[in-house]
Amino acid sequence: MIWKFITFFVRRLDPEIAHKITIKFFKLGLHPRLNKIGIPINIGNLIFKNFIGVAAGFDKNAEVINKIHFLNFGFTEVGTITPMPQYGNPKPRVFRLEKDRAIINRNGFNNLGMLQASKKLEDYRKKFPIGSSFLVGINIGPNKDSEDRFSDYKVLAKNLSKFADYISINVSSPNTPNLREFQNKENLEKVINFVKDGIATSKTFNKKLPIFLKIAPDINYQTLKSIIETAHSQKIFGLIISNTTLDRERNLKSKKSKELGGLSGKPLFKKSTDILSQANKIIKNNNYKLFLIAAGGVSDSKTAYVKILCGAHLVQLYSSLTFEGPLVANQIISGILKLMKRDKIENIIDIVGVIDNPKEAMSVAINGFKNYKS
Ligand SMILES: Cc1cc2nc3c(=O)[nH]c(=O)nc-3n(C[C@H](O)[C@H](O)[C@H](O)COP(=O)(O)O)c2cc1C
Repeated sequence: MIWKFITFFVRRLDPEIAHKITIKFFKLGLHPRLNKIGIPINIGNLIFKNFIGVAAGFDKNAEVINKIHFLNFGFTEVGTITPMPQYGNPKPRVFRLEKDRAIINRNGFNNLGMLQASKKLEDYRKKFPIGSSFLVGINIGPNKDSEDRFSDYKVLAKNLSKFADYISINVSSPNTPNLREFQNKENLEKVINFVKDGIATSKTFNKKLPIFLKIAPDINYQTLKSIIETAHSQKIFGLIISNTTLDRERNLKSKKSKELGGLSGKPLFKKSTDILSQANKIIKNNNYKLFLIAAGGVSDSKTAYVKILCGAHLVQLYSSLTFEGPLVANQIISGILKLMKRDKIENIIDIVGVIDNPKEAMSVAINGFKNYKS
């Protein structure tokens, strides 16, 4: 109750100030301390004690990883980290669309840069070395004014991979001009090779360090197919689907819906789930080994269940932390445990990607598998 109350008050503040205060609170230890419940899953060489994680953007500078441990998430993705510190776009640049349970941000990779993040990550790893039960992904991206963005990815991979359970290549933020062009085949191959080179020259070279590509929801089927083929041929571990969208649904209610930037939260759910489901089908039909992490509009157990049914091994969230507060992972896990009981599912991996159509997946999430004909 107290956390719902605090969340309600923090939400009265300007979104960026609210976020700053939340990080401060977390640093001071003012956060819930939840009993550990989780829904474990293993993918490749990664063992997650819980399939829900915090999406990139919440802990940009790797400041509160050890606090997120307490909220029943299984992992977090820090960043996006750029080589040099970066202020980002002028403020205001984050907008809460209360009536739509959504956020628009045009932050533009505001972060303290690679060196500062390295210090934080080094401290964290002293207490929680690689192999600990809570996993940390590191999301990397280039500086806006960089003369060589490919080399940015390399230098980041070289310096940060030793702290990472996985690396996430951000080629999809809508707030860094032309970044999404890195999703084109030629660029994407080059970025991946630069990241691999970076990892290979890092001090603690780990050949098996998983690499994820974080992609945009604003792509057509051909682009998605080309990304998946490149990911497969380059032996990428998986895709994160998706980043925020530049699209605006016509029925958004908030006045702020016209603000420029990437939209996240409830209105992103359908779009990101459609792309996730298409990706799942392409991967299945071609027998590719690629894991999917879903992000976009997950706010409760049903929306998380749909993502799993449509192909996600792992689920990330950000916007619903703002709207639901720090108990959100706990609520989702408790809800999913009930859904699994209802559907007589012992292991979450058994239902990953079993439904090809997001609408049907939602119907199963609501009514169970009883009336579902595959
Ligand atoms: C304020 C804000 C900042 C974000 N910053 C980043 C970022 O730095 N890097 C990134 O890859 N994604 C970033 N994202 C996108 C999220 O990681 C996530 O992909 C997206 O918000 C969809 O999930 P959600 O609907 O649960 O919020 C940000 C999102 C928000 C709301």
